[in-house]
Amino acid sequence: MLRYILPLLLVTSVSCTHEEKSAKLVIAHRGVPYFTPEETLPSYLLARDLGADYLEADLQRTKDGIIICLHDDNLGRTTNVLEVFPDRANDPVSSFTWAELQQLDAGIWFNDQFPTLARDSFTDLKILSLEQLIEIAESGKSEVGIYLETKHPELFPGIEIELRELLESKGWYEKKLSNGKPAVFLQSFVPASLELLREAFPETPIAYLLWQGAGCLQEFNAEHLSDCLDFAESLNIALIGASFGGEETNYFDQLEPWFLEALKQRRMEIHAFTFDTKGDIRTYSPLTDGHFTNRTDLHLDYYGRKRPDVDEILAKYGF
Ligand code: G3P
Ligand code: CA
Repeated sequence: MLRYILPLLLVTSVSCTHEEKSAKLVIAHRGVPYFTPEETLPSYLLARDLGADYLEADLQRTKDGIIICLHDDNLGRTTNVLEVFPDRANDPVSSFTWAELQQLDAGIWFNDQFPTLARDSFTDLKILSLEQLIEIAESGKSEVGIYLETKHPELFPGIEIELRELLESKGWYEKKLSNGKPAVFLQSFVPASLELLREAFPETPIAYLLWQGAGCLQEFNAEHLSDCLDFAESLNIALIGASFGGEETNYFDQLEPWFLEALKQRRMEIHAFTFDTKGDIRTYSPLTDGHFTNRTDLHLDYYGRKRPDVDEILAKYGF
């Protein structure tokens, strides 16, 4: 990783001035999953009250049509589905109704996996609907946007237009934050979903998430990237979600000098995922325009943005 630093800085001519630092978006990836069970109430309350710019969520749909916030296509990793529905533990999320999902505990796994960060109050947390996420975003003292990914969209035909209808009904379609930025960003790894999102949301910023070995990026080279960027331009997409091989992630590292230069030539912005340590934030944040992070707290500290204490926020809400 270190071998990239000098050429990266030369290519992008970026210096880490205060002005530069203040311009970057802090995107709370699944809430603040370092301290709390991902995509649950305490995770998004914490991200919102810390002062994240956007709450990131992965969207799927229940059997009875409720759009929910959940990353994996089954419930095994982040719920006690094995206990509650032992015969259905590997079944897709889409085969469960909302009422069935609400019988699951979406927090207890965190306590088992991260005992030093466990809290009794994390037991019996519920999977959230998108409507509930919007209520969280709307009800804080600090203003926050939402950054929504269509996850496994091939399993949820029509979710893109349903998403528009829901956002419209809540007053979030075309909504702007008081700083003038859009209240909603959209994102997907899947070209077919990006096309449908653009049809449903002609003006909303959309990020094309790139993943090594998938879709247009079968091989990580300039030719394949050029194909990806052609596709993005054809949909009026000017934002790339790039993976980053950080100190605490095992993602493929796309932030190479030639990659950054190619995006710069096409005037594409980059929101990279995920920067989760002080070192990675310091070194790599200057190279991108926004950062998905599991550590909103560390990002805000880096940018010198005043924030409340994590424990104080969680205690305020009974966690
Ligand atoms: O949205 C960026 C990032 O969320 C994509 O990765 O797998 O965490 O959804 P993933
Ligand atoms: Ca995501």
